[in-house]
Amino acid sequence: MQIVIAGSAAEVGRLAAAKISNLVRERPDAVLGVATGSSPLAIYGELASQVRNKGLDCSAVQAFALDEYVGLPAAHPESYHSVIRREVADPLGLDPANVHVPEGTAADPAAACEEYERLIAEAGPVELQILGIGANGHIGFNEPTSSFASRTRIKTLAPQTRADNARFFDSLDDVPTHCLTQGLGTILDARRLVLVAQGEGKANAVAAMVEGPLTSMCPGSALQLHPDATVIVDEPAASLLQLSDYYRYTYDNLPDWQRFDG
Ligand code: F6R
Repeated sequence: MQIVIAGSAAEVGRLAAAKISNLVRERPDAVLGVATGSSPLAIYGELASQVRNKGLDCSAVQAFALDEYVGLPAAHPESYHSVIRREVADPLGLDPANVHVPEGTAADPAAACEEYERLIAEAGPVELQILGIGANGHIGFNEPTSSFASRTRIKTLAPQTRADNARFFDSLDDVPTHCLTQGLGTILDARRLVLVAQGEGKANAVAAMVEGPLTSMCPGSALQLHPDATVIVDEPAASLLQLSDYYRYTYDNLPDWQRFDG
């Protein structure tokens, strides 16, 4: 796992965006895995600016969202259909036909999950999966004790996750209780993983993910199993890492061929 400690939250976004734009310039029809929530917003902002000002062309990129709430109509402003369209697809100029989000209102959620796995398999593998991490260590909405072998399925959101996401809704009661989420096994199938985290509230989860035991109690620790995972965090999110000096030293001494920050 490569750990990059960035000087600011904005720098986290800039570094992660560099990885993604390098990929898209090399492979304009790359398949990206996209996350929602606050963590990746700086990435999307930086990519959108490169689309506007630096000739980055995302029109052939395919995107697969990690998850969706169960029961929120796609048109609801906080459905991940809406969030992905607002924060990713529109600003980056993605073709709507190339943007996929699990069907949270499907009459048969299990069939919708199977169909989502089929779509990913058909288009994939996902070349680069963008991830955030929940304060409880979840990635996607794989809450603690999710199986490392799990595939896209219906999950019950942890009370902490509902409370954390209540900021997007009028009240806690409005936050759905269930979601469809790619499984940890689905996420691990991506060729590259780039996880970003900012702020002190993520410090425990980041330390558990990077330096803790491999355990379903911290679903993010599944990244330890992946051969190409990059974790980009700001100083507050890195504050509980024991080996932070080593990660800084490693990054400062990266050989040119491993650099991605332009
Ligand atoms: C969202 C997702 C979640 C978030 C996580 C962090 O698609 O998969 O794992 O990345 O809940 O959320 P924020 O970034 O809002 O702190």
